[in-house]
Amino acid sequence: MSSAKRKTTVAVIFGGRSVEHDVSVVTGHQVIRVFDPEQYEVVPVYIDREGRWLTGEPLLELKNFRDEIASYKGVMSTLLSPTTNHHGLILNPVAGRFGKSEVQRLDVIFPTIHGTHGEDGTLQGLFELADIPYVGCGVLASALANDKIITKDVLRQHAIPVVDDVHFTRAEWLNDPDAIIQRITEKLAYPVFVKPATTGSSIGIGRAADETLLRASIDVATHFDQRVLVESAVTNCVEINCAVLGNTPDVRASVLEQPVSWEAFLTYEEKYLRGGEGMKSAERLIPAPISPELTEQIQEYARGAFRAIGGRGTARIDFLVRPDVGEVYLNEVNTMPGSLALYLWQEENLSPREVVDQLVKLAQEAHVEKRRSTYNYQTNLIAQTAARGLKGIKGVKSTPTPG
Ligand SMILES: Nc1ncnc2c1ncn2[C@@H]1O[C@H](COP(=O)(O)OP(=O)(O)O)[C@@H](O)[C@H]1O
Ligand SMILES: [Mg+2]
Repeated sequence: MSSAKRKTTVAVIFGGRSVEHDVSVVTGHQVIRVFDPEQYEVVPVYIDREGRWLTGEPLLELKNFRDEIASYKGVMSTLLSPTTNHHGLILNPVAGRFGKSEVQRLDVIFPTIHGTHGEDGTLQGLFELADIPYVGCGVLASALANDKIITKDVLRQHAIPVVDDVHFTRAEWLNDPDAIIQRITEKLAYPVFVKPATTGSSIGIGRAADETLLRASIDVATHFDQRVLVESAVTNCVEINCAVLGNTPDVRASVLEQPVSWEAFLTYEEKYLRGGEGMKSAERLIPAPISPELTEQIQEYARGAFRAIGGRGTARIDFLVRPDVGEVYLNEVNTMPGSLALYLWQEENLSPREVVDQLVKLAQEAHVEKRRSTYNYQTNLIAQTAARGLKGIKGVKSTPTPG
């Protein structure tokens, strides 16, 4: 036995079947870069736009990401096994006659997928089945935060201020648009924001100052989701973001940032494509130039919101703020923020490497905590039923349910 500590094998999963695919590839590589190679063995896992899973050395290089990446030497198909005995990735799952499948065991999974099929609890569900520790929020918190309508309902219950809204389904809209318009104009004043319940990166979002624009914006939003919300615009506001780190209830809030270009609102292009240095180039003020009282208030809401959704690991919580009148509204909870908001922790003297280390530890702690629950409950129901025969469904019902 060597005295050196065994490295922790961590799979960083990025890409994904989502409109935020490209952003996720960048975030994934930002994370891969900061792991201490003495402590971790990083396994890159790329989910391409069609939802195919790939792994292999070439995926560690950002410049290799072109359409033909699947055919690169050293890239192979893979999948994460949902069974608890594999505890990892199956390499070459359909190997064919001359190939060979193998298992790559994993200690931890580090998902860095934004938006649908990644930030919304679906992937987290797979990790739960696999019973492997994973970084970030669980199924419920991820799914909840991904849905702007439900998030606001939950936050209202926790007395965290959110903007008034009206929400409806695509079917309702198509069925009777006039009734929807009436519901909106009775409750809200123009201008309003129209948002699909679950996309990110400002895709499908519109601002409407009159009924014509409102109808057009709803038409757009209903292309992106089955449910849409319309909410009052907070005029003359600044955006303020706060990252949180920890497992509920032990949550730490970061310094606040104020992204600078809020005039109209941040479009996808503005957020990600401007300038050469990716997301870092979107100018931001850190710390946000607002009063210490308002700063503390926002940090308190950020921690409160993360606890309210039962968050784990990290999130970036975004606010709309009118500093002059001291109004604060929580706008959204991003459970997989771009760049993992590493730059905010840097201001708190936590290096990216330390944040990633902490996230792995938090994942392992959450997993240990989960394992304390009992999932295996033996009864003699099957033997009894087998002896009696399956004729009477009633007989099954009368057996006491385990509880
Ligand atoms: N109610 C609102 N009032 C004023 N600005 C808003 C409002 N809702 C959204 N915005 C602006 O639109 C942007 C995108 O909306 P957001 O809800 O954050 O969607 P996304 O999930 O795409 O980031 C925000 O960053 C903000 O600039
Ligand atoms: Mg946003």
